[in-house]
Amino acid sequence: MAFVFNYSDIHLSDMQGEIMDNSNVDKGRRRFLTAAATVVGGAGAAAGAVPFIATMTPSEKTKAIGAPVEVDISELKPGERMIKKWQGKPVWILRRTKEMLDDIASQNEAVSDPTSQASSQPEYAMNEFRAREDEYLVVIGICTHLGCSPSFVLKDGDNSPVVDWKGGFFCPCHGSRFDLAGRVFKGVPAPTNLVIPPYKFITPSQLLIGDDSEAA
Ligand code: FES
Repeated sequence: MAFVFNYSDIHLSDMQGEIMDNSNVDKGRRRFLTAAATVVGGAGAAAGAVPFIATMTPSEKTKAIGAPVEVDISELKPGERMIKKWQGKPVWILRRTKEMLDDIASQNEAVSDPTSQASSQPEYAMNEFRAREDEYLVVIGICTHLGCSPSFVLKDGDNSPVVDWKGGFFCPCHGSRFDLAGRVFKGVPAPTNLVIPPYKFITPSQLLIGDDSEAA
């Protein structure tokens, strides 16, 4: 005859006995109940964990642990910006036009750290355009003052923050302004240029943000 274990029935009656008088509970039976509870409890925890993990897509799992993020920039047109998340932070990718690059060069006197000596970026981005490739700015979109997210404001737009605005980024929280290389203008609260994350090109139209190691 098959043994059928009805955990809930036995457990309830014996637990009541144990609470009322521990000394009257048969020791062998108590050991059996403890082992049974451990098995059932472990099975329940495992059953709960599997669906949780199963609901995450591979890209969510990757992002969740802060791993590098691959970005396809093949559809990004000159003058456009796209936003991706890396380690929970917004990363802006701006494809700059020739005119935008010329405008950056014209702002050297107006920005407070033109050669990024006091700012944070990888060595390969410590240049005039703060980039591996002049055309593409890859920058963390968080204001270096108190962490607001600046807006991308095009040149000659209706909402230019100052006259003769060449285009760049404007932080609405306390008025900091940055040029199209993420360099901070003089006389605003933000102390340094926007931060450039580590990144590299996997192909001419694919970026990897968060990893700039060279191939072996
Ligand atoms: S947080 Fe951007 S200016 Fe203060």
